[in-house]
Amino acid sequence: MKVASRISELQPYLFVEINKKIAEKKARGEEVISFAIGDPDIPTPPHIIERLCQEAKDPANHRYPESAGLPELSRAIADWYKNRFDISLDSETEVLPLIGSKEGIAHIAFCYIDPGDIALVTDPAYPVYSVGTSLAGGRMYYLPLKEENDFLPDLNNVPQDVLNNTKMLWINYPNNPTAAVADLDFYNRVVAFAKQHNIIVCHDGPYSEVAYDGYQPVSFLQAEGARDVGVEFHSLSKSYNMTGWRIGMVVGNAEIVDALRTLKSNLDSGIPQAIQYMAIEALNGPQDCIAEHNAIYQRRRDLVVEVLANIGLDVKTPKASLYVWARVPEGYNSVGFTADLLDQVNVAVTPGVGYGKSGEGYVRLSLTIPDAALVKGLSRLSGWRNTRRLTPKR
Ligand SMILES: Cc1ncc(COP(=O)(O)O)c(C=O)c1O
Repeated sequence: MKVASRISELQPYLFVEINKKIAEKKARGEEVISFAIGDPDIPTPPHIIERLCQEAKDPANHRYPESAGLPELSRAIADWYKNRFDISLDSETEVLPLIGSKEGIAHIAFCYIDPGDIALVTDPAYPVYSVGTSLAGGRMYYLPLKEENDFLPDLNNVPQDVLNNTKMLWINYPNNPTAAVADLDFYNRVVAFAKQHNIIVCHDGPYSEVAYDGYQPVSFLQAEGARDVGVEFHSLSKSYNMTGWRIGMVVGNAEIVDALRTLKSNLDSGIPQAIQYMAIEALNGPQDCIAEHNAIYQRRRDLVVEVLANIGLDVKTPKASLYVWARVPEGYNSVGFTADLLDQVNVAVTPGVGYGKSGEGYVRLSLTIPDAALVKGLSRLSGWRNTRRLTPKR
């Protein structure tokens, strides 16, 4: 059976070889400790689960939900944005709940990308910006994120012929995988760029609540005029450890929100209502869990950074996100170093190149690993030896 070319042409999964190695090790009874997955290990806070249990018993929540979500949920999202970022959103026109932000991120391309249109996508990046664009028949023009630019894209060097066909720009801060952060000054420049070239901005900000040392990430929508040009995708996945419940949102420009609402009303039947009530509880309820989780991640972050630096990796302490992004030692590329860690010490990390060409030379370690496994994994990492170090000249 021949699948459509939009499926057969999707990029093969880059971690095939690494995953094969992990599977072989596991089959031999070896224990692999994985720093590879960005999925919070801490459970969803009890008060949110309690609300699910109550709402699951109500027959009103057993029926098809509205695709656009409960008005109370959109109001809770708007209130949360007001409290957290001092941004006033019209909950009817500027807010749309999503079945996890991933689906909205993929689907928005179908609202704005016609075959041949271009999306500017940062490199490295969360893969779904490109996947959505490709599935909609569009093309990507990649903006490298370089360490010397603090992993912010250079907007001044996009060729005019690319700009002529560009419909969208994807940005994401705090960033996955580089853990970089952006300030309002950067977002102001993004707004000016988007206005000048008539481009829609999609900012993806699921890590805005995962931050350390008192740092508070800003929202793209806080930039002057941001709502004229774009939207922000957000999620309850990382803020409230709710990856498994699948709930997120898009907020901002009413026209863009409306286009996605129209598409989704034809594709899906909304978020199970009991889960919408969980989200209302999470957003309106006590927020102490966020600081509690961040304290745990911060402690893990410090341990990970220390061990990586001790074994000779060039690594910066991240201010936010669930990730540590480290340069691989000289003599290795990102896949080679990942394979070497697996071979020598049974530890799995993610090769940076899996997120795009410019991720070459880096690996990503996630902080969402339970403490006992973390300690064991770090002790193994400490025992890693660089076998490719060049012998110093005499
Ligand atoms: C940058 C980024 N955006 C979006 C998502 C998707 O989050 P969700 O679909 O769980 O809301 C992730 C998940 O890892 C992510 O890292």
